[in-house]
Amino acid sequence: MFELNLSPAWADAVFKRSSVRRFLEAPQKSELEVLGQLCKKLSWQGISVRLFKGPGLKSVIKGTDVYAVIVAKNNTVPELEGYMGEALVLEAVSLGLDTCWLGAGFHPDIVNKNVNLQNDEHVNCVIAIGKANRPEFNPKRRSFEQLCGLDEKKLKELGPWQYAAVSSARVAPSAINMQPWNIEVTETTLSVLNKRVLIGKYAGVDRGICMLHAAVGAASLGRNPTWKKGEDGCQMRV
Ligand SMILES: Cc1cc2nc3c(=O)[nH]c(=O)nc-3n(C[C@H](O)[C@H](O)[C@H](O)COP(=O)(O)O)c2cc1C
Repeated sequence: MFELNLSPAWADAVFKRSSVRRFLEAPQKSELEVLGQLCKKLSWQGISVRLFKGPGLKSVIKGTDVYAVIVAKNNTVPELEGYMGEALVLEAVSLGLDTCWLGAGFHPDIVNKNVNLQNDEHVNCVIAIGKANRPEFNPKRRSFEQLCGLDEKKLKELGPWQYAAVSSARVAPSAINMQPWNIEVTETTLSVLNKRVLIGKYAGVDRGICMLHAAVGAASLGRNPTWKKGEDGCQMRV
């Protein structure tokens, strides 16, 4: 599970992205072709990522009508939706585009019809995509210490891949910025653990997003991360 070729370009993208809701325009055809190719690679293990242009987004999003829909089989773990969806986000950002994950900001009736949703499938989230004047990267996130029990200095002492992975995971987006995860990091592993939050509807998707960021960080230092799902979260070995 969670097998995916991680593009080296995504290592920078994690530190460039932030949610955009007001776009200047939709992506160009050539950009949609690149994203469309990636969607095919992301569509397996019970997940299908599909691009649409047209109605479906609510008015919280202005200036683009392009969005990706993450369709999931009902028996897949929600972390996979986040993992594959965030790969598309990071690729879009690498192309100079901007995005916004949406759990509430889309019309389910239109989207479900567009994807011809089957009884054994669901859509939790879509991702709006377009061009924008990218806002300054200024994420409001929990501190390193709150996140993993180690301050930045101690984390650096633990090792370079650990520092890269946690730094990247720390800036992952989540619904209402709840950051429903804790991170445990050792010599050889990094675990994204479940953290109880007030509104947990998207917590699984959020953790998958965080896992992709952690994997991208570890891969940027030559590691080859693999994931295993456990009772209280997911563990990455490098
Ligand atoms: C699973 C998920 C669902 C989200 N749903 C919405 C939404 O319905 N409407 C919205 O405006 N933003 C939504 N967001 C965006 C978050 O509010 C945003 O990622 C978070 O506040 C962190 O800000 P940043 O992405 O700019 O770093 C969602 C994000 C995630 C990951």
